[in-house]
Amino acid sequence: MSNRVVILGSINVDNILHIQALPKPGETIEMADFSKAAGGKGANQAIAAVRSGAQTTFIGKIGNDSNGQMMLTALKKDNINTENIGVAKTQTGQAYILLVASGQNSIIIQHGANFELTPTDVHQAREAIVAADFVVAQAETPLDVAEEAFKIAHEAGKRTILNPAPAHQDLPESLLAETDIIIPNETESAAITGIPVTDDTTYRENAEFYHRLGVAGVIITLGSAGSYVSTKQVKQQVPAYKVKAVDTTAAGDTFIGALSAVLQPDLANLVAAATYASRASSLTVQHLGAFPSIPLRAAVVKALKN
Ligand code: RIB
Repeated sequence: MSNRVVILGSINVDNILHIQALPKPGETIEMADFSKAAGGKGANQAIAAVRSGAQTTFIGKIGNDSNGQMMLTALKKDNINTENIGVAKTQTGQAYILLVASGQNSIIIQHGANFELTPTDVHQAREAIVAADFVVAQAETPLDVAEEAFKIAHEAGKRTILNPAPAHQDLPESLLAETDIIIPNETESAAITGIPVTDDTTYRENAEFYHRLGVAGVIITLGSAGSYVSTKQVKQQVPAYKVKAVDTTAAGDTFIGALSAVLQPDLANLVAAATYASRASSLTVQHLGAFPSIPLRAAVVKALKN
């Protein structure tokens, strides 16, 4: 049976600036190409979850504009339940992605409607939250809203997954107290814990920081080094798949969404789920754009056999 996943988060239109390398201060450079794609950390995670077979519901906000309609259409096309996506008076969120030749990116976001999401919106989505196996949130929508959703999930005995992205130095302990699994990348984890993420010792120290605050599962994503998985029972690195990256946008989001689709709520298959998620992510980075590059379950399963 497939998981029921509720993703609370951001919806952005991604404006992608294709450049050779990042400009230095004061330098003018030319853009080799420009493209647009559907994105936003929350929306990308929802697409990854649904394409990996999860029954997926989204809680978020778009603006009353053509970008908002475009995003809503894209989410519906993938059979995501969009009943809990509201329309705000501000414009739909946007991201400006500086994509360099190596496939790495730097992202500037304009929150727009994403920051109009409120605890009231979450209460209106209560039915979906209590029916979910996992409720997933990031930090591109207000953190108090994520905390409210996690509280409702916990009251119903459901699991919560926090992706603390973009990096936050002052992540409220009250939010961590409502988090079952945290999935930061190295930069995000170092910002939260104050401990650089460099080797096995520091992976463990970072994970212990979260465990001490009551977080049962920790997955630190390590880019080309894979991920470090830590629970009471398991502490190990899960390797990444080596591929040539065209665009790393949504690599982490694919990992999180795909993981939420295949993870057992008792976390018994955590390492296998992280391996699946890592394979999914390795397919995403081989294509341009967020939504267009996120793979279907069949493609991930096929790639896992190679
Ligand atoms: O994680 C990638 C996403 O971050 C992009 O799609 C962009 O919208 C930003 O939110």
